[in-house]
Amino acid sequence: MSDYEIIDSNADNIDGCSLCGNKSTNNLGRRRKADWLKERYAEGLRYKVLRSREFGDVGMIEYAPGSHSWRPVEAEDYLVIHCLWVKREHKGKGLGSLLLESCLRDAKNRQCRGVAVVTSSDAFMAESALFLKAGFVPVDRIPPYELLVKKLQRAAPDPRFTVERKRLPRRYGKGLTILAADQCPYVSKSVGRIAEASRTLGLEPRVVRVTSARASRELPTPYGIFSILHDGRLIAERPISATRFLSIMRKNAEQATRGYRRCASGPAQPQP
Ligand SMILES: CC(C)(COP(=O)(O)OP(=O)(O)OC[C@H]1O[C@@H](n2cnc3c(N)ncnc32)[C@H](O)[C@@H]1OP(=O)(O)O)[C@@H](O)C(=O)NCCC(=O)NCCS
Repeated sequence: MSDYEIIDSNADNIDGCSLCGNKSTNNLGRRRKADWLKERYAEGLRYKVLRSREFGDVGMIEYAPGSHSWRPVEAEDYLVIHCLWVKREHKGKGLGSLLLESCLRDAKNRQCRGVAVVTSSDAFMAESALFLKAGFVPVDRIPPYELLVKKLQRAAPDPRFTVERKRLPRRYGKGLTILAADQCPYVSKSVGRIAEASRTLGLEPRVVRVTSARASRELPTPYGIFSILHDGRLIAERPISATRFLSIMRKNAEQATRGYRRCASGPAQPQP
């Protein structure tokens, strides 16, 4: 492990760090993420980079106090992990655990109730396995998402999801709305691709920047950060490719047409 060190990033050194595997300062998503981080440090958020002398930046962990978490969870006085990631070639060497330990140490030093994390069996987030091995337990579940916690104070209340599925889709109503925060450096690329794809369907999307932890926690998904709404329905709850977006839109249009045909032909008549 002597090849590795954990860099606690701050406003002065973040521009020199790789952000979730992206080091290019020309990349819009990366630049936005760096600016986003610079506004978050004062709120107690930490973005730690795992740096190898030989291979450069190979992993990261990001966490925030529950009151400033961008995931829709109630976790007052807990630290909430937003992301944990280790580069593919370096997995299985204990590096994810190293990053997690540094968060748990921080939680102890800050005298927090514990550490919470949203995991998913979907490939976009860390799975539960590493956290379960480290003594976390599941406390809430919205498939494929799970909320896990490791308590440092035994009597502390369990964190829970606060996901409201219907309110926001209703508020935005008709048309296509993309809600996106700069927390993830891959979001802006996804927004650009989906906006382009939606124009091929004759739709002009309304793009809403999610600029506060509170607004992110109001999104209708346990992931927070990102949502696509269409005609009052949530159609994607994390960044997706243009192909996936078009496929969802096609299926929904087919379903709507089938529903219309059923209504137009009226109720089934009794057979003689
Ligand atoms: C989850 C992740 C961080 C684990 O990193 P890692 O460096 O491979 O983890 P470690 O080597 O410290 O593994 C710790 C333990 O958890 C276990 N573990 C880790 N990932 C596992 C998995 N997917 N399935 C089963 N066990 C797993 C390991 O076997 C190990 O157990 P052991 O100590 O008994 O051998 C890494 O797999 C990853 O980056 N996944 C992608 C996460 C992602 O998409 N993040 C996006 C940011 S939100």
